[in-house]
Amino acid sequence: MKVAVLGTGSVGQSLSAKLASLGHEVKMGTRDVAASRERKGVDNFGQPLVGEWLSSPAAKKVQLTTFLEATKGADLVVLATLGQIAHDVLASCGQHLDGKVILDITNPLDFSKGFPPTLSVCNTASLGEQLQAAFPKARFVKSLNTLSNPVMVKPDLVPGDHNVFVSGNDETAKQQVKALLESFGWKAASIIDVGDITTARATEMLLPLWVRLFGAWKTPMFNFAVRRA
Ligand SMILES: NC(=O)c1ccc[n+]([C@@H]2O[C@H](COP(=O)([O-])OP(=O)(O)OC[C@H]3O[C@@H](n4cnc5c(N)ncnc54)[C@H](OP(=O)(O)O)[C@@H]3O)[C@@H](O)[C@H]2O)c1
Repeated sequence: MKVAVLGTGSVGQSLSAKLASLGHEVKMGTRDVAASRERKGVDNFGQPLVGEWLSSPAAKKVQLTTFLEATKGADLVVLATLGQIAHDVLASCGQHLDGKVILDITNPLDFSKGFPPTLSVCNTASLGEQLQAAFPKARFVKSLNTLSNPVMVKPDLVPGDHNVFVSGNDETAKQQVKALLESFGWKAASIIDVGDITTARATEMLLPLWVRLFGAWKTPMFNFAVRRA
């Protein structure tokens, strides 16, 4: 499969590396290819900046290009940008999103007043449904946004059974994303289909809890596990 991964942060890096290791053809999108290649060193969490990461073995088969070029001809688009600019990034991809499945990992986190962040949209709307409404010809599936990027692509980093959620209007698109998650190592029984894209309100609103657990435990290596009677 040809996959466009829009985003060069730790999520874009983890997803690109995993998808390439599974034999997919991965193009990673960024604003400015030359500027991104120059970004060396690590961020505040010790994660490699994209220029550093590109010289690692995990990135060997990943091609860095612009957001627009990455989406041209892609079979699947992974949206892994900062939530607040996701709309503008997708708009820059024009008609190349039409008909495509978009695995949306973004969260509407607003860090403008520091940590912990607030949600820039919640309760009566979500970033997932705003994007679906803005790009009606694309088929959005919100998933993986409730866990840290290492766990997204290697669920057994967290012991025991734990869950990943899926929200979206298009059943075929959700089936495609579920199959992809299974290829990452998620058990079918651990993937919870919450419903249509409006249910992204609920999973995005888990983030205030997630960031506080991160603050308390000082590690991102945890996940939510839902038990049903
Ligand atoms: N970090 C995690 O483990 C985690 C877990 C769950 C969900 N998420 C969500 O996943 C998304 C990605 O997170 P992340 O930590 O990997 O990276 P991030 O720092 O949130 O986003 C990085 C990406 O956003 C783009 N970007 C930033 N400002 C921009 C602007 N003004 N205009 C256009 N593009 C801009 C960057 O473009 P350039 O490449 O051009 O710099 C880069 O590709 C976020 O929505 C986050 O909430 C993250």
